[in-house]
Amino acid sequence: MSKRNFIKATLLSSASVLVSCKLNFANKSKTFGEKNMSFELPALPYARNALAPYISENTINFHYGKHHQAYVTNLNNLVASTDLAEKSLEEIIKISATDKTKAGIFNNSAQVWNHTFYWNSMKPNGGGKPVGEVLAKIEADFGSYENFVTEFKNAGATQFGSGWAWLVLDEGKLKITKTGNAETPLTTSAKPLMTMDVWEHAYYLDFQNARPTYIDTFLNHLVNWDFVAANLK
Ligand SMILES: [Fe+2]
Repeated sequence: MSKRNFIKATLLSSASVLVSCKLNFANKSKTFGEKNMSFELPALPYARNALAPYISENTINFHYGKHHQAYVTNLNNLVASTDLAEKSLEEIIKISATDKTKAGIFNNSAQVWNHTFYWNSMKPNGGGKPVGEVLAKIEADFGSYENFVTEFKNAGATQFGSGWAWLVLDEGKLKITKTGNAETPLTTSAKPLMTMDVWEHAYYLDFQNARPTYIDTFLNHLVNWDFVAANLK
């Protein structure tokens, strides 16, 4: 798969309409010709103030504008003039995940991917109980939506330190996992469907140390179930 097409850009032109689960995780731009390409920060699928009052524009300005951007910048600097420079983001993540000497490259490339997935896992007026096929699948695999909520909250709350809680599809079944730091299900056989960032930078400006309140808010007001539904297909 060519790097330019590894994931075709399909942007959410409105926060309420999900066109496709295919994302532009970090489009490579051609600035000075075919061999001089670098990753770019993908556009947010909504305005920076669109998740307020649950996640403030201030948080987005730092989290997306500073942290996510820094991962992109670091990645470009780390792979410049290496044999990874011509690889896609997903290729870089998978190659560096198994090479201890490339820990910095793994951390930054995986964080670029994880954050793009996270932004798309939320939408304005999201959250609450899903409907249709997603609800049916949750009820089939967790017993009830309430069981899913309990397990997802537990994953987010018990992830010690920085990391992520995930809803994934593993061998045909929905499962909840958690990963530390930059770790991502992308390096496993499980397919990510939705994620919640539980690094402190995701919630500290709005919720300070109250991670459980942030998790409740994510579930009740932010989860983009349309994104989950599209990823399930
Ligand atoms: Fe983050």
